[in-house]
Amino acid sequence: MCGIIGIASRTEFPSRVLLERLKRLEYRGYDSYGFYDSRNLKKRVGGIDVEAAGRATTRTGIAHTRWATHGGATERNAHPHVSCDGRVVIVHNGIIENHEEMRKSLEKKGHRFASETDSEVIAHFLEEGLKRKPAEAVIVDFFAAAAGSFAVLAAIKGREEIFALKRDSPLVLGAADGMNILASDIYAFSDATSRAAFFENDEFAVVGAESFRFFDRKGRPIEKAMREFVWDQKESVKRSHKHYMLKEILEEPAAVERMLFSMENDQKAAFDGLIRLIRGSKKIIFAACGTSYHASLLGAYYLHRTGVESQTLIASEFRHYANVDRDTLIIALSQSGETMDVIDALKYARERSGRIAAVVNAPYSTIQRMSELSLHILAGQEVCVASTKAFINQAVLMLRIAREFGFPVDTDNVAGKIRLLFRKKARIREIAERIAASKDAYIIGRGLTYPVAREIALKIKETSYIHAEGMMGGELKHGTIALIEDGTPVLSLVSNNDPDIISNAREVEARGAQVFTITNDGRMERKRNVIHIETGNDGKFGILAAVAGQLIAYYAADKLGRPIDKPRNLAKSVTVK
Ligand code: G6P
Repeated sequence: MCGIIGIASRTEFPSRVLLERLKRLEYRGYDSYGFYDSRNLKKRVGGIDVEAAGRATTRTGIAHTRWATHGGATERNAHPHVSCDGRVVIVHNGIIENHEEMRKSLEKKGHRFASETDSEVIAHFLEEGLKRKPAEAVIVDFFAAAAGSFAVLAAIKGREEIFALKRDSPLVLGAADGMNILASDIYAFSDATSRAAFFENDEFAVVGAESFRFFDRKGRPIEKAMREFVWDQKESVKRSHKHYMLKEILEEPAAVERMLFSMENDQKAAFDGLIRLIRGSKKIIFAACGTSYHASLLGAYYLHRTGVESQTLIASEFRHYANVDRDTLIIALSQSGETMDVIDALKYARERSGRIAAVVNAPYSTIQRMSELSLHILAGQEVCVASTKAFINQAVLMLRIAREFGFPVDTDNVAGKIRLLFRKKARIREIAERIAASKDAYIIGRGLTYPVAREIALKIKETSYIHAEGMMGGELKHGTIALIEDGTPVLSLVSNNDPDIISNAREVEARGAQVFTITNDGRMERKRNVIHIETGNDGKFGILAAVAGQLIAYYAADKLGRPIDKPRNLAKSVTVK
């Protein structure tokens, strides 16, 4: 949620570079944006237009792309925020929980606020402190006074450097040629450098063009090591594809191959370590949100089939449902590695002595750093807000792990099977366009196709705005069947001719539903409403059905002319609770 960027450069650079780099973070939120380049401050509602920077040049600047939390998506609430005397300009990602109380006390001291945001208090607080103390000392006071989460970049008149503060929201410093770049994540600068320093909680830094100093919350200097990171950025160019979503789906076979290869080679020790951790634990609890939660449901299903005691919980509800002790292994699944609810679940688990492992896509993310062991799914950058290739890699990794416990599956040909499925794009598109004609759709599954049904429904909702429900086929007749009308589309996921889900499909068909089927029954292949998946293995069937569902969501959204890569109200990385 919200992306921030700051650049301190040895030489002048065009201010538009701030916005170009900010654009790489736009998937974190796109309600409004703004920048400050030490002379100009501009803010606008909507997606980033790099032309807004005009021809200005600068040596330092900060910028922000917003996912609104406190206060609507208006120009007034857009960042940067400025203190009364204009001395302090800040951008912020996170939530200042005690902002009302801080605001009241600053108002008493004469500060006038211009926005409804929680963030604005930061600018006023710093200005107030600067009347008496140097910036470093005021920041120490801010750490003591503020509650909540924040990654803040502040420009202060009279100081060349950028001040960067972090508590619970992601912040990283990249050292590029002649400039230091501060950002919410490494993707903002991964085309310019592979050297980065990651902020830990309650740390701040004073960052100039060629040097930086890190401090703890008390203002004591700390040593910070630069790390080399590997982050494939070739793939993040859209090229001839109409949307990133389609491009990213089509990258799935390569992403699956890359990950499986890595598990046998460079990540072999970590992979074996995770298997040992699972064997040594009494029970496994996955913690995840959104699409990653659906992958974790598959993980729990696969492991459960091999006799490993496993369950999964939506991270935001983790503390209400999890019983954690020292024999419990928590496996966090997260594409970004920064989802606040997952981080919170891990904190809870840690307090109860649970062991923690993580499966992430973004390297050096907070969730990875909180875990004693982590695996990288190596899906590469996802630019489309709706996650596709990361989900497939998470799911394939779940299957690969279950294979170690006896799940009968050969994962080596998954990539090839996905490529085969791509040949059926015309059929999938035709079905998608028929679904796009309705305002509701239902996707039903059982057993391992239940999580897939939920994931397909989520993809349809996110990208096409069609109301879609993914559910257990068995639950239909306990209520939802009342919503079936003449022509309502129902997509049924039928693995190995499961008679129960076939009956569920018949029940809705008898009530007028338009039934579409994803099946591995070869006899159905030629039927018009059918997408045939070529695998006899039900573990793989689920994954391939998910790919078909992603394509359905994509083509339905395309038919409806939706802004597929940046759906309204969403953000790819959810760093607030
Ligand atoms: C957001 C994204 C989803 C994602 C979820 C969990 O809602 O829009 O695509 O599945 O967060 O994110 P994570 O990075 O933890 O997988």
